[in-house]
Amino acid sequence: MVSEAMEKALNAQFNAELYSGYLYLAMAAYFEDNDYSGFAAWMRVQADEELEHGMKFYDYILRRGAKVNIEAIAKPETEWESPLAAFEQALSHERYVTSLINDLVALAREEKDFATDNFLQWFVEEQVEEEENAMENVSKLTLAGESKELLFKINEDMGTRTRGGSEE
Ligand code: FEO
Repeated sequence: MVSEAMEKALNAQFNAELYSGYLYLAMAAYFEDNDYSGFAAWMRVQADEELEHGMKFYDYILRRGAKVNIEAIAKPETEWESPLAAFEQALSHERYVTSLINDLVALAREEKDFATDNFLQWFVEEQVEEEENAMENVSKLTLAGESKELLFKINEDMGTRTRGGSEE
């Protein structure tokens, strides 16, 4: 079993992962609306991944005999100034998620809940990759600057992302 505080924290993270998915779906829709189908496809893959992250928490909560709380998912932003602005927000969001995971690990260690600590290590590693991908996207778009040609090329390249690829 897990403590009451841990049950609450795991449920909060379940919700936060679903929110991440919702945020990336909002970005996908924004990109579709602005004819960047490659960026939209990339964000849809990212949104799928977040739902999977959420379900890892859902399953873990149940495995520990705790209760899954279904709460409202906050409304994300839906418009950005530019593709770069959206990807910059994705990066700052991933940094925030990393801080949430770190707080969870700290709580697990404080409570000597080593099973939960162990479960969370997958997310610790995943966040390194999430931040790495987000930083790479921001760098690419920053380098493209005002060049429509480069932006189009990056949009095309990123549209080839699939689940299970190197960026998962
Ligand atoms: Fe679930 Fe993007 O981390």
